[in-house]
Amino acid sequence: MKYSTQTGTLADAKSQCLVTSLAGAQKALTRAAARDALDRATLDFKNEAGEVLSVVLGKGEDVQRLLVVGGCDDEISQAQFRKAADTAAAALAKTQAASATWALHQTSVTDGDVYWRASASLQAVSLAAYQYEKHKSKKAAPLKLARLALLADGRSRASCARAVKEAAALKAGLDFARDLGNEPPNVCNPTWLLKETRKLGRDSNVKVSALDEKKMAELGMGSFLSVSQGSESPGKLIIVEYSGGKRNDAPVVLVGKGITFDTGGISLKPGPQMDEMKFDMCGAATVLGATKAAIEAKLPINLVTLVAAAENMPSGRATRPGDIVTSLSGQTIEILNTDAEGRLVLCDALEYARRYKPKTVIDVATLTGACIIALGSHASALYANDDELADAILDAGTWSGDRSWRMPLWDDYQSQLKSNFADMQNIGGREAGSITAACFLARFTKGMKWAHMDVAGSAFHGGARKGASGRPVPSLFRYLVNQC
Ligand code: BES
Ligand code: MN
Ligand code: ZN
Repeated sequence: MKYSTQTGTLADAKSQCLVTSLAGAQKALTRAAARDALDRATLDFKNEAGEVLSVVLGKGEDVQRLLVVGGCDDEISQAQFRKAADTAAAALAKTQAASATWALHQTSVTDGDVYWRASASLQAVSLAAYQYEKHKSKKAAPLKLARLALLADGRSRASCARAVKEAAALKAGLDFARDLGNEPPNVCNPTWLLKETRKLGRDSNVKVSALDEKKMAELGMGSFLSVSQGSESPGKLIIVEYSGGKRNDAPVVLVGKGITFDTGGISLKPGPQMDEMKFDMCGAATVLGATKAAIEAKLPINLVTLVAAAENMPSGRATRPGDIVTSLSGQTIEILNTDAEGRLVLCDALEYARRYKPKTVIDVATLTGACIIALGSHASALYANDDELADAILDAGTWSGDRSWRMPLWDDYQSQLKSNFADMQNIGGREAGSITAACFLARFTKGMKWAHMDVAGSAFHGGARKGASGRPVPSLFRYLVNQC
């Protein structure tokens, strides 16, 4: 999909498919016959967010097809605008038009300027245009739509052009993240993830490397290795270094949980829906997606992305409940449940992040089922030891419609991690499971400005829509853009 801007007014727009509000459609059609056709077609149209109507016009018209989007004639909220844009984008993905003109960003939105409206519009199209057909022997009809232009006037042209540039980068990052997330676990193992990540290294400002298990053992990453040791697929700590900023600018470090399949290990998970644990690398997929977006947008920042890639399997070499391991930080951990493996790989990756003297560190992980119980799928859980960082991520989430909700990281919860035999245990009991997992990570990030996003509920859909959502790539990308 190619995004662009197209200068002009609704009245002189030429397009295979024009996406606009009802009043916009009326403005676009100046010839009496076309107006008449529109009036008849929209007789029963409900002009509300969530409604959309496709109107096919006569051959001679400048506009061949109209997508009339409901609820966009008066000033609306950001949420209503997103709903309308999602509806329009879904309808657009189904048309046979190869190119379309989008005018919906001309709708008035409370606290949403034209740059926001254009960005939200294109993000909706990017999400709707995604298809994953790689492993189907009979592919669905590929998307016809190849080009989308934002209709802009002289005043909005610069804002639209900026939105176009960023949206193209974001789409590349979202697609990358979703493709990685959807890949089956017999293909997507740590070695494959490294191979896919190496593709980012084609950019001259990007270096991709990895620590193998031997190197991790030398460094003392006993916690990480306790997870990967049960698998036939060796674990990797994947490192992407993007130098878009000044030489001495401290980097933002992103860390992703990359459990390519989580069986639970010896603390084996129950069978139903275990297939969804292929999505346990969505933290990794999304930090890599955000990194791809930052590279494509040529953001003037330094960024280091660490992916803790391992498979959590039961075997004769797997960790037992009761095992005690020493982490890279030197702190010892009693592993009481091998299914609480995400924190075990992340704590070593977070400790490793220190060597980059980061400006901020953000980890993203499908860390706990408890997160889904607390927040469902609408919000990611956000934890941070720095208020400014937390607010920046919350704002980026609100702006991009990819919201987080801040959770407490109070010391009160730390006592749940007390062990009789080691410095800490890896589980904190039934209560506040997402919080105690975050508190575990907090023990490894002291002295760094750090945030943790538990995306267990938001990173993928189950049921009929099963698949990677790409979240929180939009928030992460927006956070990075705002750092520039
Ligand atoms: N990957 C899971 C968390 C998860 C569950 C993500 C469902 C997405 C959907 C994680 O490794 C895990 O198993 N967590 C345990 C922790 C518990 C043993 C303390 C959990 O949430 O049950
Ligand atoms: Mn687990
Ligand atoms: Zn897991």
